[in-house]
Amino acid sequence: MAKTAAVFACSACGSRFPKWLGRCPDCGGWNTLEAVGGSSSAGARGASRLSAEAMAHPAVPLADVAVAGESESPAGGRVRCGLKEFDRVLGGGLTPGSAILLGGDPGVGKSTLLLQAALGWAEAGHRVLYAACEESAGQVRQRADRLLSPEGERVGEPPEGLLVCPETRLSVLVEQARQARPSVVVVDSIQMIDASDSAASAGAVAQLRTAALGLIRAAKEMGFGLLLIGHVTKAGGLAGPKLIEHMVDAVLRFDGDRYHAHRVLRAVKNRFGATHEIGLFEMTGAGLREAADGAGLVADEHEPRAGSVAAPVMQGTRCMMVEVQALTASGFLGSAKRKVSGLDSSRLAMLIAVLERHGGLRLADQDVFASSVGGIRAVEPACDLALGLAIAGAFLGRTLPGKTAAVGEIGLGGEVRPGPQTERRVAEAKRLGFERVIGPPVKRRGSGGGWTAVSTISQAMEMLS
Ligand code: TYD
Ligand code: MG
Repeated sequence: MAKTAAVFACSACGSRFPKWLGRCPDCGGWNTLEAVGGSSSAGARGASRLSAEAMAHPAVPLADVAVAGESESPAGGRVRCGLKEFDRVLGGGLTPGSAILLGGDPGVGKSTLLLQAALGWAEAGHRVLYAACEESAGQVRQRADRLLSPEGERVGEPPEGLLVCPETRLSVLVEQARQARPSVVVVDSIQMIDASDSAASAGAVAQLRTAALGLIRAAKEMGFGLLLIGHVTKAGGLAGPKLIEHMVDAVLRFDGDRYHAHRVLRAVKNRFGATHEIGLFEMTGAGLREAADGAGLVADEHEPRAGSVAAPVMQGTRCMMVEVQALTASGFLGSAKRKVSGLDSSRLAMLIAVLERHGGLRLADQDVFASSVGGIRAVEPACDLALGLAIAGAFLGRTLPGKTAAVGEIGLGGEVRPGPQTERRVAEAKRLGFERVIGPPVKRRGSGGGWTAVSTISQAMEMLS
């Protein structure tokens, strides 16, 4: 006497509802709800079949289970591609049997990154299956040749172990993996996979789900590492529903400004490593180049200018020097513009208010523009002091002394407070040639020479001349 409750799922956002609605309350899409299977289909299956299934996959004591990825691979569990930045974000390489989703804006370099990694894995003796669903095999070859020709000169041929197949059908792809027995499978992109046993159109939620599930299952069963490229929507979320993010072991985001060469790879979710690790790359004519350790603004390159302040910014476990710039221009009272690029707009609004109230600046009728140079995002509160000094400097037409950096959070009372890892930041600034760092009073231990302690924003502004 099974009661079958019908469920309706939105094909755009994946939300489920007990009844049909013309418009999805979650994403606002019209006519997107489709009936999906009832929740209690168990009655349809015979009880004997269920018990047979349970016998086939019995529950076992956890202590008897082998640690995932420690047995199969020759590379001590993890499969490394040799791109150190990528391997580190993965937690030391790709875990066999794991599934990873890589998201990012169109044109940011997702295909380039994974093809480069694929070349690396193949070079290291692993077999890689690259499913190019968006490009032809010839286009992949063309890109590989570009990656293999750093100064316009060919330095090598694509390794034997890299197999490319322009395949979009899920079942064929899984069969190909079964025959080729690869260590790594790259799917570019999951949105293009056609799981024809699902009635929904390609790219729709049901399709995406079936495709992702099919590939992840194959990865677990055959023990290959799976990398799925996913598209990102205008709003910045991964296209398709959150449900793929839940299914995979790690979600990586590849970010960067289309107009800058810097690219940042970060883990949003990671079952096999830390999520605060990031990989830094630079897009060049021959693919992505790994940013050297401690790359960033060097003191000698930073000319003192009104509205420009150097700040040490934490990116994962590393610290980078970034130039924060601000510009003020007369606008209209009540409709002054405030725009940021690579910075946090709500912190900009807060800092403008603090500068008005505690710094004696009249900014209400000023348009304020602020940006971090080079496409590295500096959204931490620890960049407050640098941004505040950049705005004040721009407005007053004054500059900080040469080779000076600023670090610290600013509170609503105008007080300057230490942010996390102040010592690390100061050390990095010193290493890159900055002779003076303006920051909050540090109680514990003197940070050595060149430390100018300020306890309020107005005190910091006295450094501008
Ligand atoms: P691509 O990897 O195709 O981006 P995605 O897969 O994320 O859409 O990279 C696209 C951009 O990268 C393209 O504008 C060209 C540029 N590019 C380089 O600058 N150098 C290179 O060596 C390659 C392969 C691409
Ligand atoms: Mg691509």
